[in-house]
Amino acid sequence: MPRKIIIDTDPGQDDAVAILLALASPDEIEVLGITAVAGNVPLALTQKNARIVCELAGRADVPVFSGCERPLKRALVTAEHVHGKTGLDGPVLPDPTMPLQDTHAVEFLIRTLRREPAGSVTLCPLGPLTNIATAMMAAPEIVPRIAQIVLMGGAYFEVGNITPAAEFNIHVDPEAAEIVFGSGVPLTVMPLDVTHKALVTPARNAAFRGLGTRVGVAVAEMTDFFERFDKAKYGSDGAPLHDPCVTAYLLKPELFTGRHINVEIETEGRFTAGMTVADWWGVTGKAPNAMFMGDLDADGFFVLLTERLGRL
Ligand code: RIB
Ligand code: CA
Repeated sequence: MPRKIIIDTDPGQDDAVAILLALASPDEIEVLGITAVAGNVPLALTQKNARIVCELAGRADVPVFSGCERPLKRALVTAEHVHGKTGLDGPVLPDPTMPLQDTHAVEFLIRTLRREPAGSVTLCPLGPLTNIATAMMAAPEIVPRIAQIVLMGGAYFEVGNITPAAEFNIHVDPEAAEIVFGSGVPLTVMPLDVTHKALVTPARNAAFRGLGTRVGVAVAEMTDFFERFDKAKYGSDGAPLHDPCVTAYLLKPELFTGRHINVEIETEGRFTAGMTVADWWGVTGKAPNAMFMGDLDADGFFVLLTERLGRL
């Protein structure tokens, strides 16, 4: 029986690969819908990019919804410097022909969680948590119905990638993250500590391209573009596949190791807004609220990813 998920996303080349991996795995994952949020690029582009990716996967049947165009309280911060002005720079992909759903993404999240059996739907946020937090505030009764949330965001040992202290998804909307991390829903978190170990080295990029398929070549072109920021900043040996860690966890959780710890979100720090204050060493005595990942089997991750992409 495939696991039912909703992917909440701000594509974003790495979001795109996470979505492709999910759509390539229908025996294990049923994508009930994709909800777009403003993040890497503005909402008008993230909702368009989500549809471009669905059509790249040959899945124009997956409903795509447009959500919140700005964080709960703060001005939107985007990341064109990382993802390019379209958010999917790299490959030349056709504009989408599949329609955007009329229903607002937040309404879709609420209706789906009310309709589906309690504990049967997993939420997979890959961007700022604005849509998720807005749904939780609008309809608190859905919170206990969420099976679990597996998200990409935060950092501890790796510290920030957009400020010295904060990772982008959490930094864009710290208030939303505070709501989600305080919701009591079982959380599995893929922070930079683990995603910075999922690097698309030249050999791994060549394996994508070597698939010889439209999807394989497009992913190679995406990561060729997307790697520039991290190579320049960190001297990385390739693009970090942040968001695909979420999908890979659903498919092979044994690829990841971490600790069940307390994670608080800084919302007031002048210099630290959006920091995930992860109690990795258990010094606070606070109740754990997140499975915070710290390491992954990178080779196993890329074997899984490349094989699954080859199915599309
Ligand atoms: O910090 C990395 C995260 O921010 C990824 O989800 C990337 O797509 C951007 O949303
Ligand atoms: Ca993302």
